[in-house]
This record gives sequence, structure tokens and C-alpha cells, in this order.
Amino acid sequence: MASSSSLPSAARCSLLLIAALTLVLSHGAHAYGGSGTGLSYSFYDNSCPSARDIVRRVIQVARIIDARIPASLIRLHFHDCFANGCDGSLLLDDDVSSGIMSEKKAPGNYQSARGFKVVDNIKRVLEIACPGTVSCADILTLAAEISVELAGGPAWNVPLGRRDGTKSNIESAKDLPSPFDSLDILQKKFRNMGLNDIDLVALQGAHTFGRAQCQFTQRNCTAGQEVGTLVNLDAATPNVFDNKYYGNLLQGRAELPSDQVMTSDPIAAATTAPIVHRFSGNQKDFFANFAASMIKMGNISPLTGRDGEVRKNCRRVNKKSY
Ligand code: HEM
Ligand SMILES: *[C@@H]1O[C@H](CO)[C@@H](O)[C@H](O)[C@H]1NC(C)=O
Repeated sequence: MASSSSLPSAARCSLLLIAALTLVLSHGAHAYGGSGTGLSYSFYDNSCPSARDIVRRVIQVARIIDARIPASLIRLHFHDCFANGCDGSLLLDDDVSSGIMSEKKAPGNYQSARGFKVVDNIKRVLEIACPGTVSCADILTLAAEISVELAGGPAWNVPLGRRDGTKSNIESAKDLPSPFDSLDILQKKFRNMGLNDIDLVALQGAHTFGRAQCQFTQRNCTAGQEVGTLVNLDAATPNVFDNKYYGNLLQGRAELPSDQVMTSDPIAAATTAPIVHRFSGNQKDFFANFAASMIKMGNISPLTGRDGEVRKNCRRVNKKSY
């Protein structure tokens, strides 16, 4: 993958750590309220009050180096949650001794999912500030919200308290939505997760930022474009979280076929197309629905209580201590 920066990686790494450590040594609690499904808005208020600020600070630095990072991070949360629940399993690397076949090798993730080093940096700082406390699954959930907010989108309170899985879910990862799925298949994959048409249209609105490789786009790369060439998912405002994406759809100018089907499929007129019109005409409406749908997606089968564990390293399950 092409490097987006001229900074050597050692310099990038220490930049991130210095910025984040400054924060650990400084402050502050974030106000939460309310509750989710076995999750809680105040989960880390006592155990790690700086959790959200640490995640935010590391992402802020990372996006200076690579403007695409917020988009890449929210996509990790989506791909984690859709493969057997939001349990951080996507972050596990191959490990024969623990029987882990990494979800990173599944087609939707392979040579595509990215941002893992930023997650490592977040985890490293959290382990210094509050050892063994903040799960990798919650890091992805927090990172998703913060990423949207930093890119100009809505802010919302994030239910927390997910624990990390100890297995990977390669079979469900293979069934992630594909850019070539028809609308009824996309609807089915979302319904299987308890997500309806409004959720489908709202959540695909995340394609308001980030990039796609040209072989996944409607044009299937243009003449002279090599496979893997990156194109902006939202040609209008590539790094901003706004509702312009829906305007592109209405003009037939979505990048991914799976975006365009929400207006072009024969069953779209009676299902998703009116929602695309709505969100295109009213950004506040889109933002409110996006936040609500993100919370629904983040609540897909979390491990809570004494289930699972809090990983020390997001790439590996903890060693058993007997
Ligand atoms: C409806 C099903 C979906 C399909 C078929 C789909 C498909 C894709 C594809 C093919 C890419 C480009 C990957 C590449 O070229 O390497 C992509 C990128 C992206 N997707 Fe989706 N997506 C879907 C839903 C979602 C959802 C629900 C979210 C988040 C809430 C999301 C967020 C993103 C973001 C932000 C990017 C850009 C990532 C980056 O630049 O690193 N997508 N998606
Ligand atoms: C895109 O073009 C390549 C090369 O012409 C072809 O092999 C591939 O099947 C095309 N992809 C789609 C989805 O049509």
C-alpha cells in the first residue's frame, strides 16, 4: 500500500506516543449518561476516566499524518461487529497455538482493512494509563464515534463495557457485505444483524469519507488505472463527514455498486430510495439517524460481564495464567 507520508515510521510512532503520553499525564473525565444493552455510558468513568480523551488524542495525531485514518477506523468497527458481534475479533492476528485464523484474511478485509497500527498505539497508551481495563472492542467503538466527530459529523454518547472475544470468526467474516451484492442481499445481511432499511441507508452514509480501490467501483477502474488505485468514496467532499454522499447517489455518481443500488435497484423505489432523498435534503436528519444506527450496530452481540477478556494486546488473546 502506498505510503501517505514522508515521515519515517519510527518518527511517526514516537510522535503519536509523545502526544498521547502528554495526555495521560494531564486530565480529564468525559460525561456520559444513560445505558445500552448490558453496556453503560459511564462504564469507564471510575476505572479509566481519560479513556475517551486518550483515544481521541491518538486519532487526532494519526489523522494529521494520514487524512484517511478516521474513515479506516470506523470501517474496522463495522467489520468487527458484522462478524459475530462487536468483540474485537477482527484485530486478532494469525496464531496457530491459539487456533486463531485471522479475520484480516477474509475477502472484505484482505489488503483492504487498515488502521491497525493506530489501534495498537491507542491500546499501548491505554495500557499505561489504565492497565487491563479498556477492551479492544470498546476502542473500536470509541474510535468510530470520535472519527466521525473529528471529520465534521455528529457526536453521540457511546455505550461501553464490551469485552474482547478469544476466537476469530473467519466464516462470518467471509460473509461481510460485498460491493457487488444486490439490494435484497444487502438488506438481508443487515436484517440478520437487527438492522433495517433506515440503518442500511444511514450507515452506508459512512461512505461520505475514505477511499476505495478502483476495482470495486462502478467504473471498475478507468483506462490506464492500475488495480488498487484509490478513488474517493465521496467525490464532492472526500474527507468531510456530511450528507453530500446522498447527492452523488441521486446523480447516479456513487462509487460503489452497493451504494448505487439504494436508488437504482428495482426494489429501491419502494424501500431505500425515499430514505436517500430524505437524507440528501436534510443533513440534520441524516446525522441523527446515523448516530442512532451506529449505536445499534455497536450493540450487536457484545460480550459483557465476565465473558471474554480485556486483551492486553489487541492482536493476541491473553495467555492463560495457570
Ligand atoms: C452496505 C454494505 C457495505 C459495503 C458493500 C461496503 C463496501 C466497501 C468497500 C468495497 C470499500 C472499499 C474497500 C477497498 O477498496 O479496499 C469500503 C470502504 C469504506 N467503508 Fe464500506 N461498505 C458497506 C458498509 C459500510 C458501513 C456500514 C460503514 C461504516 C459505518 C462503512 C464504512 C466504510 C468506510 C469509511 C470506507 C473507507 C475506508 C478507508 O478509506 O480506509 N461501510 N466499503
Ligand atoms: C473488472 O475488469 C477486469 C479486467 O477487465 C475483469 O477481469 C473483472 O472481472 C472486472 N470486474 C467486474 C466486477 O466486472
